[in-house]
Amino acid sequence: MVTNTPATRPANPRFSSGPCAKNPEFSLDKLADAPLGRSHRAAVGKAKLLAAIETTREVLGIPADYKIGIVPASDTGAVEMALWSLLGERPAEMVAWESFGAGWVTDVVKQLKIEANVHTAEYGEIVDMAKVNYDNDVVFTWNGTTSGVRMANGDAIPADRAGLTICDATSAAFAMDLPWDKLDVTTFSWQKVLGGEAAHGMLILSPRAVERLENYTPAWPLPKIFRLTKGGKLIDGIFTGATINTPSMLAVEDYLVALDWAKSVGGLKGLIARADANAAAIAKFVETHDWIANLAVDPATASTTSVCLKFTDDRITDGATFAKAVAKRLEAEGVALDIGAYRDAPAGLRIWCGGTVETSDVEALMPWLDWAFNAEIEALQAAA
Ligand SMILES: Cc1ncc(COP(=O)(O)O)c(C=O)c1O
Repeated sequence: MVTNTPATRPANPRFSSGPCAKNPEFSLDKLADAPLGRSHRAAVGKAKLLAAIETTREVLGIPADYKIGIVPASDTGAVEMALWSLLGERPAEMVAWESFGAGWVTDVVKQLKIEANVHTAEYGEIVDMAKVNYDNDVVFTWNGTTSGVRMANGDAIPADRAGLTICDATSAAFAMDLPWDKLDVTTFSWQKVLGGEAAHGMLILSPRAVERLENYTPAWPLPKIFRLTKGGKLIDGIFTGATINTPSMLAVEDYLVALDWAKSVGGLKGLIARADANAAAIAKFVETHDWIANLAVDPATASTTSVCLKFTDDRITDGATFAKAVAKRLEAEGVALDIGAYRDAPAGLRIWCGGTVETSDVEALMPWLDWAFNAEIEALQAAA
């Protein structure tokens, strides 16, 4: 028996985990103030870049003595700059519970060849952050975008640590509380929670991270695109809007528009509440349907942005094919785009719940999950 086609459709079917949905107020004409065709080093360009930095500080509540830079190559660029510029002074603790974290482990162990203790957990689980040695430099991802598992808080990180903490927070920033006093390097990209454009990354440095940069020179050469210091001093311009190379002023304008929208919904608090409500709408559906479960084993670590789901029905013999078919069916109906699980992650669905997604759209999608699941089960049975 195929469930009837649900009566309501999400007004916006964009549930991709990156680039993420634009904010609900977005339209292209809002970018009209972009200084296109002007130098990013002209007063108008520099003012926009500085505004992007300082509004980021305001919305995220980043301490005044932390440096915030706009860097090339999105979140990946920001993380790589940090790893290559800071690590090697002492051993590293590499922490990963999904594929992006695992990518940073590979970089540090195989490329940089730094002595490291590697802490990993299976998809759905999390590493016990209390078991990490904070005398070493610690690299971790706050929200594992591909497993939907996040840090519940930063309580395990000691305030008086000797090493630096380097945190890839790209799918957490603007959706989760980040304890700045526990984070020495934090990175994110515009294309994630605020639904901005890809291309640029944000690199946030604590005073201790700056101190390391100014007192330690890695043994390996650094390309210009990674260099944060000159003559043993931080290149201050990077943190006041004089970027290393040419940024897209259209992307900058778009980010400023996204930040304005963020403020209009109550800033960080409002954004967190929106993501929480979206994830709660999915949790409610999952609780009342026994054929689907959250990939995150512990609800305390279940992501509120990249919500990952797995099918648990015994009648499914090939999980990957089944999940792909469900996602395809939903896409063909135009009710959910890009919600297949990440290629390296266990089979299932991943529904983005960051603040640019409307809760009414998540709620409207839920009956469609039921519909697509039943249609695929029926197809399986017909083929048997
Ligand atoms: C945790 C994490 N790190 C890094 C990246 C790479 O981000 P970007 O493509 O913006 O460099 C992603 C993208 O999804 C991510 O989720």
